[in-house]
Amino acid sequence: MSASQKMLVTYALPYANGPLHLGHLVGMIQSDIWVRFQKMQGYHCLYVCGSDSHGTPIMINAEKMGLSPEKMVTDITEDHKRTSQRFHIEFDNYYTTHSPENQKLVEIIFKRHMDAGNIAKHTITQFFDPIKALFLPDRYVKGTCPRCHAKDQYGDYCEACSATYAVTELENPVSALTGATPVQKDSEHYFFKLPNYENFLKQWTKDNHLQKAVTNKLNEWFDAGLKEWDISRDAPYFGFLIPGEDKKYFYVWLDAPIGYMASFKNLCERKKELDFDEYWRAESDVALYHFIGKDIMYFHTLFWPALLHGANYRTPTAIFAHGFLTIRGQKMSKSRGTFIEARTYLEHLPPEYLRYYCAAKLSDKVEDLDINFEDFTNRVNADLVGKCINIASRTAPFITKYFSGKLKATLDEPALYQTFSKTGDDIANLWQALRYSQAIKQIMLLADLANQYIDEKKPWLLIKDPTKRENVHAIATVSLNLFRLLMIYLKPVLPITAIAVEDFLKIKALKWQDKESPLLGHVICEFKPLLQRIDPTHIERLTMMTEQENKPLQSATTSTPAKPMITIDDFNKIDLRVASILEASHVEGAEKLLCLKVDLGTETRQIFAGIKSTFQPATLVGKKVVIVANLAPRKMRFGVSEGMVVVANDGETLWLVSADDKTPPGAQVR
Ligand code: 2FM
Ligand code: ZN
Repeated sequence: MSASQKMLVTYALPYANGPLHLGHLVGMIQSDIWVRFQKMQGYHCLYVCGSDSHGTPIMINAEKMGLSPEKMVTDITEDHKRTSQRFHIEFDNYYTTHSPENQKLVEIIFKRHMDAGNIAKHTITQFFDPIKALFLPDRYVKGTCPRCHAKDQYGDYCEACSATYAVTELENPVSALTGATPVQKDSEHYFFKLPNYENFLKQWTKDNHLQKAVTNKLNEWFDAGLKEWDISRDAPYFGFLIPGEDKKYFYVWLDAPIGYMASFKNLCERKKELDFDEYWRAESDVALYHFIGKDIMYFHTLFWPALLHGANYRTPTAIFAHGFLTIRGQKMSKSRGTFIEARTYLEHLPPEYLRYYCAAKLSDKVEDLDINFEDFTNRVNADLVGKCINIASRTAPFITKYFSGKLKATLDEPALYQTFSKTGDDIANLWQALRYSQAIKQIMLLADLANQYIDEKKPWLLIKDPTKRENVHAIATVSLNLFRLLMIYLKPVLPITAIAVEDFLKIKALKWQDKESPLLGHVICEFKPLLQRIDPTHIERLTMMTEQENKPLQSATTSTPAKPMITIDDFNKIDLRVASILEASHVEGAEKLLCLKVDLGTETRQIFAGIKSTFQPATLVGKKVVIVANLAPRKMRFGVSEGMVVVANDGETLWLVSADDKTPPGAQVR
């Protein structure tokens, strides 16, 4: 690569449909390390991302939250941006696909393909939810597997027998949104004629843009035959309208990768020295790298290069796919209790530890990365802090205390320094090739060497002998220089610690080339601890918090299916009121019931509530709760129950649905 090489790097745009989780962070960290490494070498490297803001799930989620999709994606985009910054992911731009820049680019690309005869229209049959008046994406249809008859399978894939089928083959299909039986309905869709690009893609695949496993996958897809790609969706949909249509939208996956261009375009508007065309024209000599997860290879290695090439834009230089994140060997999922939100992690552990752990485990292969928190603690405590950082803490105090903070003017162990700096070339190759775990291994081997050197020289003994003072000066100077090299090599991973080291050594921002010359005759600061060891209680708290966060969602989504739609008139029949609990007592002979006396403003009522499993009577008195006030009185063995207390539940645990303290008893709930 020449020094003038320009690069643009992207990370797959996360959906603006929820907060970032650790899975997103693995990919962001992988690409961020790579970008920081390029910048340290002096290359002009830009890094863009943003949120993927369109599609049915986003539309539905916004509706559930009572927000417009625009508002929801704006808020979530902001949240993603902040969270990624807290992990020191240094995006030059974090934008959104719901932007004017993206709309314009999508229209240009679509028109060019239209003009080239690459777009077809076909009528297709899909499931339609008659209540929501909405075509249902596959994942919103549940039913019985047509092969093994397992119940409750989603869309076109059976988790029980791994069969794939057309969603319309599901037996007893129901809409996961409303519980209604979907009907089959025809509609005309736009298709991108991917087969027109078969030859181009076959050649492109051979040209070394992809990892081996990805190439193999592509060859399987070529063997199976390329199919036309459905790129439109019918209203209602949150996306960009197709020009000339008023009820048809571009499918989210068409505008998502174009979002990379749009994010860059938006950056160009802010940084006038950047030239969009220089980066995206067909003959561009800027390198373009996409980092993605393995699940979205098809979109990035087939559709995306074909879309770009056919619209006379440049194609990617390389695509790097990483595997999934697993937690203690389990897929990250709420129902398994292994779903960790990025901000939950941050409440308990520093961001750089995750960066380090990912680096220590990532490779250039499309392999899953497992987080095991014992291993995590061990690697941070024993390797990063115990081996690396310790080199400075073992030797810097001598410099401060006995040599006025000044390093020796000459280097006593040039051969050792040479070994470290030469190994730096291997480490550079490993960072470049995304073989991060091997890079970390090399760095740790060097750290071992440095520690051995200190152990052998025993400066803590020598310092007691006034005639050996100069030896200690030499040893500490050598050690801190070795430490400095290790920090150069770790800087892409630990950018904040690297800044602390630069402050401690009183030097300018470390560049990769700085490894060639030692730091001598230079005054440094007093050493202050740079990184703390992980306290295992923090891991315990993170684990506990994760379990708590996963639990309600797990049960709410798995054990309580949505009820069928009702009308507002149905709802208005229920008289919900705020009631203040005056008394609460156990009921003799009743296993599950508590007897409550509640104040309804104009009257008091007695209610037998099945909440004994969760609540102690004494804790309930004075609480404002919601009751169904017009439930017909029910005669029970213990007396008459005159209403029902509303509680939230997940099938096991109960939570009170309570009103604000100031709400007067009897107030209606609507
Ligand atoms: O799979 C996903 O999470 C998508 N939101 C990734 C989009 S990447 C690019 F195409 F925008
Ligand atoms: Zn099945």
